[in-house]
Order: sequence, then C-alpha cells, then structure tokens
Amino acid sequence: MRHRFFSRTVDELNAGFESATHRGRSEPGPGLLIIGAGMMGREHLRVAQLLGRARIAGIHDTHPQSVRLAADEYRHRCGEGLPIFNSLPDACASASVDAVIICTPNHTHRQILETVAASGKPVLLEKPMATTLQDAQAIVNLAASRSAFIQLGMQYRYKAQYVEAFHEVKVRKSLGAVKTISMAEYRPPFLDKVGQWNKFNRFSGGTLVEKCCHYFDLINLMAEARPVKVYASGGRAVNFLDFEQAGQASDIDDHAMVVIEYENAVRATFILNMFSQELYEEMVVSGPLGRLVASEEASFKPSTGSRARLQVEVAGHPDYDGRQLGYPAAIEQSGHYGATYFEHLALMDRLEGKAVDAATPEQALWSLVVASAAQHSIATGSPVDISKYCADQGLDL
Ligand SMILES: NC(=O)c1ccc[n+]([C@@H]2O[C@H](COP(=O)([O-])OP(=O)(O)OC[C@H]3O[C@@H](n4cnc5c(N)ncnc54)[C@H](O)[C@@H]3O)[C@@H](O)[C@H]2O)c1
Repeated sequence: MRHRFFSRTVDELNAGFESATHRGRSEPGPGLLIIGAGMMGREHLRVAQLLGRARIAGIHDTHPQSVRLAADEYRHRCGEGLPIFNSLPDACASASVDAVIICTPNHTHRQILETVAASGKPVLLEKPMATTLQDAQAIVNLAASRSAFIQLGMQYRYKAQYVEAFHEVKVRKSLGAVKTISMAEYRPPFLDKVGQWNKFNRFSGGTLVEKCCHYFDLINLMAEARPVKVYASGGRAVNFLDFEQAGQASDIDDHAMVVIEYENAVRATFILNMFSQELYEEMVVSGPLGRLVASEEASFKPSTGSRARLQVEVAGHPDYDGRQLGYPAAIEQSGHYGATYFEHLALMDRLEGKAVDAATPEQALWSLVVASAAQHSIATGSPVDISKYCADQGLDL
C-alpha cells in the first residue's frame, strides 16, 4: 500500500490562500450540488463560498428544517436565493451540476452514491464511506469502474499539525524510519443530529467507524503499510446510557483503546474518550532519531479557536521545544480548523484535472477495515487477524 504524501508545509499552504481564493472572479466555475444540508452540508456550502472557485448549483435534503437553515445562511452570506432540488435524480441530472458532494447520514451513502454515479459526475463523499465493509468494497469497485472520480471526505489530513507532521516524517525524514505511532482523541459526546442517527450503530456503523475512521486514515498513512492485526477494548461508560428513540435504546460506544500491528512491524495505538469537556487530539510518532508530537486543543464553545502545535524532539531540531501552527482565521473558522477548506481546494484542483492528495476510496476502505476490526475485537474480546477478517467479510484486497 503506497501513499502519496504531502510535500507541502503549512507556510506554503498559507501563502497560497490569497491566490486560491478567487472571490469576485468573472468566470462562474463548476456547479456544486450538495446532498444533505445538515451540519456538514452547511459547512461544505460555507467553505465553497469562501473559496469562491465553484458556483453553488443547489442542495437536496429531505428535511425541511435543514433546507431552511441552509437557505437562510446562504442568503445571509451572499444575498441570493439558494437553488433547492426536491428530487435526487433530477438534481443529479441537472445541466447546472458539474460535481456532487454527498453529506447525508452514513447508512445512506452507498444508495445515494449509486444514484449519483449514474449521472457520471465527480463526487466528494463524506466519511465514513459506508457503515459496512461490504458496502465500502462495493464503493471501491464502483469508483474503479467509472471515469469520474470519487474523493473521500477524510479531511483531517489537512489539519495544520498533520500537514507538518507528514512533512517532517515523510519528506525531511527527521525521525528516521517510523517505529511506533500513538494517537488519542478526547472530546465531548456526539452532538445532536437530524433523526439522531449517530446514536445507533446500525445508522452510523459504530463509533470507531463513524468518528475514528479519520484517525485510522492518519495512522495508516503514517505507518505506510497494511495492518495485519488489530485488538481493542472499549464500551459504553457514560454517554447516552438512557437515550431511547422510538423504543430503541442507543447502543454506541463512548470509549475505546485500540492496538494495531502493521506488516512492516510498525506498532500503533489509538485511544478514544468521548466524555471530556474539551477537544484534544494528539499524534505521537517515534523513530530511531527521536519523537514527534502533533497536537490540537479545541472547543465546542462559540468563538474558541484551535491551538495546533508541533514538537520534534530530535537533537538540534529547531522545533525541539515546539511551535504553534495554524491557518488564517477565515480558513480556520470556516470548518474543522481549516481542514475542510483544503479539502475543497483539492476538489477544485481535481476538477481541473490536477493531481491531489485527498483521500481515495481505497484509503477510506483501509481506514474502515481497521475501525471495523477494532469493533469486532471489542465485541468478541479477541485479537483480529486482518487477512482472515477481510476474507470472511468477502473483501477483495
Ligand atoms: N468530514 C468530517 O469531519 C465530518 C464531520 C461531520 C459529519 N461528517 C459526515 O457527514 C455526514 C452528515 O453528517 P451531519 O453531521 O451533517 O449530519 P446531520 O444529521 O446534521 O445532517 C444530515 C442531513 O442529511 C439529510 N438526509 C438524510 N437522509 C437523506 C436522504 N436520503 N436524502 C437527502 N438528505 C438526507 C438530513 O435531513 C440532514 O439534513 C455523515 O456521513 C457524517 O459522518 C463528516
């Protein structure tokens, strides 16, 4: 499994901000259709408008309140009405639509993608690509059978601290060969969603699939090899223990500890805790020359920015004692501390035929393999042999 690694630094990305943001340019740009105008769909709308390289061709959503909110926000930002499509096939077929962003709940991704794919248009599909490995494999197969691309919405790779971490480790080779990777995420419980789909494993795919595919993608990229064994412990300690909807009790986990072994002998850990007050995530990478710590402190409190930091504990390294990182405030505030903005930049570049480093369907599938195997390990109490697990699931890897 070879990956395309990021050769750019945060300073280079920041320097490109002005040239990348073409507000007021005369040509209209490609038309974007956003399917699902909930929290993430509205973030995509906001970011696309900030970047200004695309037209908003419209949105499609089955929930009137989401449509209303998106239309209100859109009018507030640009003073214009947001085109609304009531039918998904009509929206996909519209001549005004050049590319489609799918940001509906996880369990709907495969079916909606299949309808969109019939239009032959390029797609940005939100993470996780699917709730089951079988659906994820079907999406990989679909992507391989069409000429228009499917980009996956795992944009954490564009967070400032990980851009710099990949550059240090993969381009500057500051640590020597990677030996161990430890990631952790501490955060508050899952937020409210339309229909509360994220409180149920059958809609979200499970907590490690829904949320942590981002982190397994980053760990897989950093390990630069295939996972061979996963074991995990986790469960439900605090969150949504009494939550019920239509007589169904919430069944999602709120904490987990995962160990991953890779075929190149890299070992990794991942810790999830979802009953913290504030957000904190961290990646620690070690090699023979030293240790790198990439971290981010953030908050759901309004107007609280993130504090991203990189420390490279290698003798003589200028960042031995650490330094703060970040993007311009307009980018950081547009969503996910700027990561979504750079995902859109990649989408626009790709629509112009340029090579980009956004997540591929195969990379998204591998993030789900780790997540799904970890959930299986939690359920069975046993380590999971990835080859056997994938074969049992009918995956063609
Ligand atoms: N990349 C990221 O960092 C990130 C962050 C948050 C959410 N997401 C992903 O984005 C997706 C949406 O999450 P969200 O937080 O916006 O959820 P949400 O509940 O806020 O919004 C989902 C929207 O989809 C609409 N919808 C549901 N079924 C539909 C259908 N069949 N056709 C059209 N619209 C439909 C709902 O009415 C709702 O407005 C999920 O896959 C989620 O995992 C990704």
